Amino acid sequence: MQKDLLGIQPLSAETIRHLLTSARRHKAKVRDPAQRDDTRKHVALNTLFYENSTRTKMSFLMAGEYLGAKAADLNVATGSVCKGETFLDTGKVLDRMGIDVLVVRHGMAGAPHLLARNVRACVVNGGDGSNEHPTQALLDALTILEHKGSFTGLNVAIVGDIANSRVARSNVFLLKTMGASVTLVGPATMLSAELATLGAAVTTDVRQAVRDADVVMALRIQAEREKGSKFPSLTEYARYFGVNASVLEGARPDALVMHPGPVNRGVELTADVIDGARSVILDQVENGVAVRMAVLEYCLEGLR
Ligand code: CP
Repeated sequence: MQKDLLGIQPLSAETIRHLLTSARRHKAKVRDPAQRDDTRKHVALNTLFYENSTRTKMSFLMAGEYLGAKAADLNVATGSVCKGETFLDTGKVLDRMGIDVLVVRHGMAGAPHLLARNVRACVVNGGDGSNEHPTQALLDALTILEHKGSFTGLNVAIVGDIANSRVARSNVFLLKTMGASVTLVGPATMLSAELATLGAAVTTDVRQAVRDADVVMALRIQAEREKGSKFPSLTEYARYFGVNASVLEGARPDALVMHPGPVNRGVELTADVIDGARSVILDQVENGVAVRMAVLEYCLEGLR
């Protein structure tokens, strides 16, 4: 047990399995308020997000509430960060207030790691730059597991802005550890040589990547991390790399369509695919709360 969850890369298959099993147990509490308890009523959780979020921030706050903890958000836009207080000083201030869990999102890769070395509190990475988004990969894994039963032998195609994507990195680490095959596809300007060294296949041909896929995971175009465009226009991106019904014809008939959200409708996925029968995008959202409950329990065990 360890007090922080900073990435998937250091986790063993056994730890990943433990977290997913725990999340499956917690899922009942997401669905049924009568099953929630106050076992963590002495715990204080704070989200500290330097980048925008709906899913990650809200689901950590809900996960804390469903475990009986006191959960609050520091709104960075109205906090003393605006007066020049540093990230580390802000984290230390919250730590000395007795906060037990700090969930951090920051544009700088490694920011949660820096904080974890300097505070008593558990630090959970809610996304650090283009590095990792560990709880996203865990909720994706839970969603895949629920629908497919196992990772062994699965073909997973991850489509889009690979180079900028902390979601792609965390998913490659997790899926390879758990025995799935991963193909990364996107414009050549958005692919990552580093991820190719981790055993993922890499291509610029979306139809080739999706052929016989069990899971098609589209990623968001991250305009905020790009100063110059890596493709001529959104229309051209959608035409060559967007996932639509025609592209999905090459996948297995029972293939899942996933997206971490938020989706740029009509760019990464067409509306009929987002809202279609193969889409598990809202399952991912629901599983996000259960996974974050499991992660909070795991880190709190490590705090003792
Ligand atoms: N998938 C994800 O991280 O979504 P949010 O940015 O809404 O948290």
